[in-house]
Amino acid sequence: MCLPSALKPLSLFFSLLQVNNGYVIIDDFWPAEYAQAMRDAILALHKVDGLAPNRVSLATSAGPLVLTKPHVFEADMHDKTAQALCPLFADFLDNADAFQTALAQRLPALKLVPAGRQSRTVKLQFNEGGGAFPWHYDNPSRPNARRLTILTYLNPDWAPGDGGELELLPFLGEPTRIEPRMNRVLLFLADELLHKVIPAVQRRMVFTLWLDGEATNTDDVVHLKVKHLNPDAIPLLTGSPLQRSVSRAVYSDLYEESLRACFGADSADLRKALALHRAHVKALLQNQALADFVAELKSRRPF
Ligand SMILES: [Fe+2]
Repeated sequence: MCLPSALKPLSLFFSLLQVNNGYVIIDDFWPAEYAQAMRDAILALHKVDGLAPNRVSLATSAGPLVLTKPHVFEADMHDKTAQALCPLFADFLDNADAFQTALAQRLPALKLVPAGRQSRTVKLQFNEGGGAFPWHYDNPSRPNARRLTILTYLNPDWAPGDGGELELLPFLGEPTRIEPRMNRVLLFLADELLHKVIPAVQRRMVFTLWLDGEATNTDDVVHLKVKHLNPDAIPLLTGSPLQRSVSRAVYSDLYEESLRACFGADSADLRKALALHRAHVKALLQNQALADFVAELKSRRPF
């Protein structure tokens, strides 16, 4: 089945993306038969063991640390084996230029790369027997170039209690929980929306498309400066990827809670992930001016 050329009018949600805390939900986004074909393609990939455990490699002073998220399996369509096993999503990767160009034109403020296979990532994910993601940004910093995350949920039987909802947390705002319903598309800013996935109880499938930006991770959104360490700069942080510099310290308790939900209450990977997180926060708070600023930000959390 080919990538549908006639997608829902894209103009409606662009202004919303700007004002609605950086995210938009669109139900029944794809033609129903295409959404079903996406789901069938992921199931077929699962049947032939074409999905691999989710592994993340984190840089540490002692070298890369590789952690495996239990119950989460995935395929990246830049992988040639995945392409051969899953023609529908290989086709999507190859032929999404028109879709990407339309988005880039209608969202000029995001400065999306307008086209090109290398400027997008297509990932398929499958949770079974559990599975959760801790708080993170899809674009944590350089050399990542992602600007926009586009998720398509493919779970026709999802019901409350099944878990697997995505929780978005606008900086210093209130969290929003999004149910992973069939053919629901969620768009959000990859470099400025903190989010996690709560543990899934039932099988859960999602297709993710990331689009790169032409100006992500410029110096002004990567390096926190002395001029930012005062309350006047807080509105800037809430609407900027700059928030990533202090997010772990401001939400340290939430990060820890979500790491436990992801890696299990007592596992070697949990101990490693917690140690890394705590070292990161400790290093940040060694600077007294930064520590004072973090305390101010924490006092402004609504929960
Ligand atoms: Fe994510």
